[in-house]
Amino acid sequence: PEPLRLGIAGLGTVGIGTVKILQRHAELLSRRAGRGLSVAAISARDRTKNRDADISCYEWEDDPVALARREDVDVYVELMGGADGPALAAIRAAIETGKDVVTANKALLAHHGQQLAEAAEAKGHVIRFEAAVAGGIPVVKALTEGLAGNEIRRVVGVMNGTCNYILTRMEESGLPYTDIFEEARQLGYLEADPELDVGGIDAGHKLSLLASIAFGTRVSFDAVDLEGIGRVSIDDIHRARDMGFRIKLLGVAQMTGRGLEQRMSPCLVPADSPLGQLQGGTNMVVLEGDSVGQVVLRGAGAGAGPTASAVMSDVIEIARGTRLSTFGQPAATLTEPTPARSSAP
Ligand code: NAP
Ligand code: HSE
Repeated sequence: PEPLRLGIAGLGTVGIGTVKILQRHAELLSRRAGRGLSVAAISARDRTKNRDADISCYEWEDDPVALARREDVDVYVELMGGADGPALAAIRAAIETGKDVVTANKALLAHHGQQLAEAAEAKGHVIRFEAAVAGGIPVVKALTEGLAGNEIRRVVGVMNGTCNYILTRMEESGLPYTDIFEEARQLGYLEADPELDVGGIDAGHKLSLLASIAFGTRVSFDAVDLEGIGRVSIDDIHRARDMGFRIKLLGVAQMTGRGLEQRMSPCLVPADSPLGQLQGGTNMVVLEGDSVGQVVLRGAGAGAGPTASAVMSDVIEIARGTRLSTFGQPAATLTEPTPARSSAP
């Protein structure tokens, strides 16, 4: 078979991580994919920037939308970020010109995923987004494939490593939120807009995507009850510890008698539970299915290697010819959820 030709837009942490896997494992990847994987062209903002990989062998496009329109691209790999702007324009162009799309962009999908998935699927194409939720943890594939035979009862998880790092470090060090927030900033953990992390918005984006797959509902980020970690005090953390609990920024999505509940907020979890034991920047997602019971997935929620690992899993899936719907069933068949505002867990 012909090689699958990728157009990669975005050569930052995740983009360069992806290029490195493609270069390091070319032979292994083509065995797994059943065909070669080639890079038709790449794009980023600054062509002259020094990057942590040799990209001189690839054709360059200044404009990510032009890259999306190229005839020699089969799969558009969007790793630029941003809920709107060039990422959205480029994905729309890719769909319009008949490409499959792989993206790590949870913000974009939380806002536009429904409309984009419907447009792609109407043309017989797919959008895959394993890297957008919990980085290297294959939770999207767990829901769309491994647990496809289950009615999903609940999705619970810690889906923002930065918040987990801040809360863990506050307990370890006894230092207040503002000090550890500054530490996280200096370590480069925070998003360019830190409110995305500490306001629970990034984790809320991820939860809304998982809820759509789990419950067959249209992506409804606006219906997520959001509360960030900015008001968690060191006293709260000590009181929780004294009672045998830890505070985690926890996402819960479940279908209740009142409708779909989606909540992302600081919660008490037993200190000796798997969620309570979760340290630093790690993520954990617990999926509950009616037949399987509980499935616990734990791993790196961010970083070049783990996130690129998830990007590559989508690329290989597309190369194999598996045509999974974006949200595990045709996007046009997802139902409008009735939002149920949060109740106690
Ligand atoms: P990043 O390091 O900031 O890289 C962004 C890349 O996109 C850069 O190469 C940048 O070009 C390019 N870019 C930005 N705006 C552009 C524009 N208007 N036109 C062309 N290129 C543009 O970001 P990242 O951390 O790799 O994240 C990429 C995506 O992955 C985001 O959606 C993010 O939410 C998601 N994600 C990231 C992680 C993670 O651990 N980093 C984990 C999960 C998901 P220049 O390099 O020339 O500036
Ligand atoms: N800011 C995110 C986090 C990056 O801390 O988990 C990965 O999505």
